[in-house]
Amino acid sequence: MSYKEQIDLQRLPAHIAIIMDGNGRWAKKQGKNRIFGHHKGVETVRKITDAGAQLGVKYLTLYAFSTENWGRPSFEVNALMELLVHTIRKETKQLNKNNICLKAIGNLEMLPPKCLRELKDAMELTKNNNRMTLTLALSYSARWEITEAVKQICQKVSSGQLNIAEVNEQLVAQNLSTAYMPDPELLIRTSGEQRISNYLLWQIAYSELFFTEKFWPEFDEEEFYKAICIFQQRERRFGKLNTTEQ
Ligand code: IPE
Ligand code: IPE
Ligand code: MG
Repeated sequence: MSYKEQIDLQRLPAHIAIIMDGNGRWAKKQGKNRIFGHHKGVETVRKITDAGAQLGVKYLTLYAFSTENWGRPSFEVNALMELLVHTIRKETKQLNKNNICLKAIGNLEMLPPKCLRELKDAMELTKNNNRMTLTLALSYSARWEITEAVKQICQKVSSGQLNIAEVNEQLVAQNLSTAYMPDPELLIRTSGEQRISNYLLWQIAYSELFFTEKFWPEFDEEEFYKAICIFQQRERRFGKLNTTEQ
């Protein structure tokens, strides 16, 4: 039986987050430059977005560019920004047709103006779509996001809008850029690295983690379905005991 056939559609994770890693190493393996890998990686984004929407996943959140990635050589940063503009321009119509809502989290003001404009237009066009929400984490890092939330909360306290006693986990979550979605049940990272690299630190407190050796450009539907099957075999206890032990 294929992995897809093994998926219990009644128990799908509502939110899957992915760290799309390994474009550069994949390209090197082909004797090509890193930028070639990023281009190939866009094809995987398209495939996995379609696969997620078709299954009925409600939220897919992709780590596309981290705060730390600004520290890469400007040739690569510029190529990635160009690719982003080009991809949004090319794919938005189809996203809209597929009833997918595009969102972005991160320090978007850091993006080149052309990128930001393209992104905002695409988000505006797709904002009422409700089949699946595709969120791109761009110029994103979890520590930046949490720091921003702390600032917003402090602002409300100092202006007298909020009492310190009212600060709780729910309030913190509401001040994160992910406030519109549930926490991811499943986090996937490609390329064999087993680390979080400053992604969704607050939100993945109880996520199931799936690491695969496949580089992002070679990640495909089958591996995506496999991750979901393995997720469904896990027992999530949230610090409590399993049902038979109670
Ligand atoms: C992931 O691939 C894409 C981005 C971080 C933009 P990498 O560019 O990190 O590729 P590797 O990990 O160096 O192979
Ligand atoms: C994480 O990948 C960021 C993205 C996938 C956008 P990196 O390649 O930047 O992470 P490290 O450097 O291996 O931790
Ligand atoms: Mg990498």
